[in-house]
This record gives sequence, structure tokens and C-alpha cells, in this order.
Amino acid sequence: MSTRLGLRYAALCIIRSLHRQQRLLNCRRCFFSTSNSAIKSQRFDTEDGSAKNTVDEAERQKFVALSQVWWDEGGEFDLLHAMNDLRVPMVRDAVTANHERLGHTPLTKSKPLANTRILDVGCGGGILSEPLARLGASVTGIDMVEENIKIAESHLSNDIELLPRIQYRWTSPEELLHTDGQFDVVVASEVAEHVSDLVSFIEVCGKLVKPGGSFFLTTINKTWLSYALALTIAERFMKIVPVGTHDYEKLVPPSDLQYLLEKNNFAVRWIHGMFYNPLTGKWSWTRMTNMNYALQAVKAEENTSQSEESSAEQT
Ligand SMILES: C[S@@+](CC[C@H](N)C(=O)[O-])C[C@H]1O[C@@H](n2cnc3c(N)ncnc32)[C@H](O)[C@@H]1O
Repeated sequence: MSTRLGLRYAALCIIRSLHRQQRLLNCRRCFFSTSNSAIKSQRFDTEDGSAKNTVDEAERQKFVALSQVWWDEGGEFDLLHAMNDLRVPMVRDAVTANHERLGHTPLTKSKPLANTRILDVGCGGGILSEPLARLGASVTGIDMVEENIKIAESHLSNDIELLPRIQYRWTSPEELLHTDGQFDVVVASEVAEHVSDLVSFIEVCGKLVKPGGSFFLTTINKTWLSYALALTIAERFMKIVPVGTHDYEKLVPPSDLQYLLEKNNFAVRWIHGMFYNPLTGKWSWTRMTNMNYALQAVKAEENTSQSEESSAEQT
């Protein structure tokens, strides 16, 4: 027990010191960097503009192997359960604010997401789908792993109140495009870093959002800090994330996501950093986006020009 606490304390000290160093590095970069949008368009613009399959077979195998532990207490997905403290209010507050902005009748406190259709892309065992449905949303959870969908359905079957509000489907976003219309909200939490083709993933998920609707993503930035913490300390030393869950090459800088979202007619409303404290086992919001981060992007209304909502507020 005390060894575990000692390890957690040591990890926290390392995290703080790495955060400080990364902040210094970021400051230096501000002096030296120039706009890299030309580089980005070379990397992201596909020749024929066609949407490809977003399922990565190696990633699929990883999640098949983990499919039985989604709801284990103290298990491999504890960090995702804890992350609900941030991401559930994140969706709830954004939907409520939008509702008020449009002058709609006030939502009830207990069911603020009533009448909201949410698509949870890469829902896994339903860790996020369930609390969103508990707030009144009608949730469709999709995942590329059939075993995940079975576990999600089995967990849901114990909850008579939620049963009518969640529908789980074993499918990918590109397959859903042709069947289920558009959603008020699309959430892809901790998924972008596991897809085969980020460009297509953002494009197809974007098409699944109604004009004026929101797209929420949480993912991991591609920095040496995330390499050190998420891939090395968290996976290999502290074992709070299953070994091999993340591949550094697939991590996603926020500027890349912003570029792709804007290309697909979205305006990024905000990008916030997320910090996990291994001592308390809790997540909190932070100004630093160099590790985990979340963002909200809003799809342009059909008749509004994208330029009206172009600038993102980086905090
Ligand atoms: C790290 S888990 C996150 C699960 C869930 N979003 C949460 O935060 O609790 C990533 C999930 O995304 C799924 N996934 C990855 N790529 C996908 C794709 N292209 N289509 C559907 N699901 C995908 C995986 O099977 C896995 O369940």
C-alpha cells in the first residue's frame, strides 16, 4: 500500500517537473515558430478527397483483448471512469448554454439533456453513454469491437430506467452515415488516437453532426510530455493504463484537429487541457494542452458562413 502511494507521489513530482519543462519549451516555440498551415494541408489533403475506412485492425485487436474489463472496479479503465467527472458536465453545460442561446424553454435540472440526440463514437463498454443518458439524452453508442457492444448491452440491461434511452450498435461511423441521419451532438472521447485515418474520421463524424450541433473530442496531444507520461509512466511503470494502449505516432496535436474540423465546416469553440492526478485519482481542467485535452467544435448552420465563427479560444 505504502509502496503504491510512494510510486504515485513520485509520479506526481515527475509530472509537475515535466509540465514546467514543457511550458518553457512552449514559450521558446512561440518565438521560433511560423504558421505551418502549408505543411498541414500537404499532410491532410487527400488526393481524391474520398473518405476511407476508419477502423485500424491492430487497434481493434487491442480492444478485443480488453473487452471484458470495462466495468471492473480498480481495473484498466479506471481513468476513463474518473474522466466522466469532466466530460459529462462538459457536454451537459455546452448543450444547456446552446439551448438558452436559442431561447428555447428551460430544461429541467434533473434531465438537462432531454430531447438531445447524442452519438457516442467508440463507446467501448458504455462508460460515457450511460451517464449522458441518465441526464435525459437519447444516446446511440457505436463501437468497432463486437465484444465491447455486448458488454455495454449487458451492463445496460440491469438498468430499467436507461434501457429505452440507449441503443448500442456494432458499427463504424462511416457505416452509420448511410443509416441514422444526423445527431445534435457527436462525442468521440479517447478515440481519435486509435483510428486508422484521422482525416476520414473527422470528416465522417462531422457529417453525422446536425448544422448548429456540437462535436466533442477528448484525446492526447503528441508531445514528448505525453510520450513520457501517458506512454511510459502510466502504461509501463504505474500500470494505470494497459501496456501498449497508445501508439505515439497516432497521438493528435490540437492544431491538427482544429485544422481538420475547420476544413469540415466546424468552428472550434474552446480547447481545454485535462490533468490526471495519480495521487487523488481525479481529473481536473488545466490551461496546459500538452497532454490530455478536450475540445468543442460547432458545425456551421447551413446558411452561415464559416468565417463568422472562425477563431478558437485557446485556454
Ligand atoms: C480508449 S477507448 C474509449 C472508450 C469510450 N469512448 C470511453 O471513453 O469510455 C476507444 C474505443 O474506440 C473504439 N474505436 C476505435 N476506432 C474506432 C472506429 N473507427 N469506429 C468505432 N469505434 C472505434 C475502440 O474499439 C474502443 O472501444
